[in-house]
Amino acid sequence: MGLNPWSNGASVDIDAIFAEFGIESIDTVSRELPELPYFIRRNIVVGHRDYHLIAGAIRDKTPFYVLTGFMPSGLPHLGHLMVMKEVVWHVQQGGTGYVAIADREAHAVRGVSWEKCREYAREYLKCLYALGYEGQTYYQSRNERLKDLAFEASIRVNFSDLQAIYGFGQETSLSHAMSIITQVADILFPQLDGGPAPTLVPVGIDQDPHLRLTRDVARKLRMFTVEDRGGYISVRSKNAPEAALESVHAAFPGSKKFEGHVDIALSGRDAVTAECVSVQERVRLIEIEYGGFGFFTPSSSYHTFMPGLQGGKMSSSLPESCFGFSEPPDAVGKKIMNALTGGRATLKEQKELGGEPDICPVFSLNLFHMVEDDQELEEIRRKCMSGELVCGRCKKETLERVVAFLAEFREKMDAVEHMVEG
Ligand code: TRP
Ligand code: SF4
Repeated sequence: MGLNPWSNGASVDIDAIFAEFGIESIDTVSRELPELPYFIRRNIVVGHRDYHLIAGAIRDKTPFYVLTGFMPSGLPHLGHLMVMKEVVWHVQQGGTGYVAIADREAHAVRGVSWEKCREYAREYLKCLYALGYEGQTYYQSRNERLKDLAFEASIRVNFSDLQAIYGFGQETSLSHAMSIITQVADILFPQLDGGPAPTLVPVGIDQDPHLRLTRDVARKLRMFTVEDRGGYISVRSKNAPEAALESVHAAFPGSKKFEGHVDIALSGRDAVTAECVSVQERVRLIEIEYGGFGFFTPSSSYHTFMPGLQGGKMSSSLPESCFGFSEPPDAVGKKIMNALTGGRATLKEQKELGGEPDICPVFSLNLFHMVEDDQELEEIRRKCMSGELVCGRCKKETLERVVAFLAEFREKMDAVEHMVEG
């Protein structure tokens, strides 16, 4: 099965994709977090790769980054809020934030003029700041170090990789490849800028191909691999200068140096994984000393998508499926009152059988963004399922929340306008 970040295909079977691509359930790490954010509690963020590095950094208050990118191919809308909130939450947990404006991608893949890119980007940035974002932001097209990193990364990628991951063919534009390698660089950029540390990239599942590629590139850009060989730890050189390997040898008294690798006997003082981590950290520093990147393989988390208001996919190309943050309340009102619900065919049936919140876009809207209080949300679910709450009433109440949200959010966006440079 292909996963193409630019397709507008119908919704995909998340479990099948997780199994196929080796994404783990978030349940395997959520108990390592001191506090669960609502997006994990409510099963919105459901999968991850190496999130234990992030949970550990939050718990131990050690450095980590959180990064995402937005493609300014249109105005931001409801569908972009989730990732923004995930970034803001992780910054509040101690992460250093980076936000890339993917104007190169918007221009190359979507044909958006540079001028329009800029105009849309300003709106994305206002949303972020309105949500309380603190951290760095940059435009791909104006970040020279990013472009150099993209070039460095491109040395590790060939066309058959792109073909396998993205289904590239003979007719694929070279700019597509450049957008991809720029995104790879986005994901590694925080570690170039601020030094190696675990990096979280919260995304929707459609972006996973980029993460698979970036994780692969990050590993390939390392000088060494560190492996537990049962009884000893082997530090293998991939493309390290001989002097760097010699430094590894010197750093671990009693280690043995061979052609291309240094073997370190386990001291037995710590658990094997702990010893492995401490060797890894030491080796990373040596790598940096010799001009390497020392990258951590980036981590990712995957959120499910909020359905469009009419069911199906939410997309800016389907205006009825979502709303933007500057749409007038009556236009938004119409969309919500016309939304698909999980209600029954007749009022009588609904009172008898109850509604189906789990397949209801209106309920999803509340679950994702409009109802903060867990108990209040549970109450809506209960009343819906018991038939006590009917859809007309429920939509009206939802609309009231949306109108209040939009008014407040607009106000906040206006208040942070000065934070967005020209
Ligand atoms: N490709 C992403 C999109 O289509 C945007 C993006 C650019 C991005 N760079 C990124 C996302 C880095 C996550 C991380 O929306
Ligand atoms: Fe959806 Fe509300 Fe109708 Fe339940 S009552 S199906 S939550 S609109």
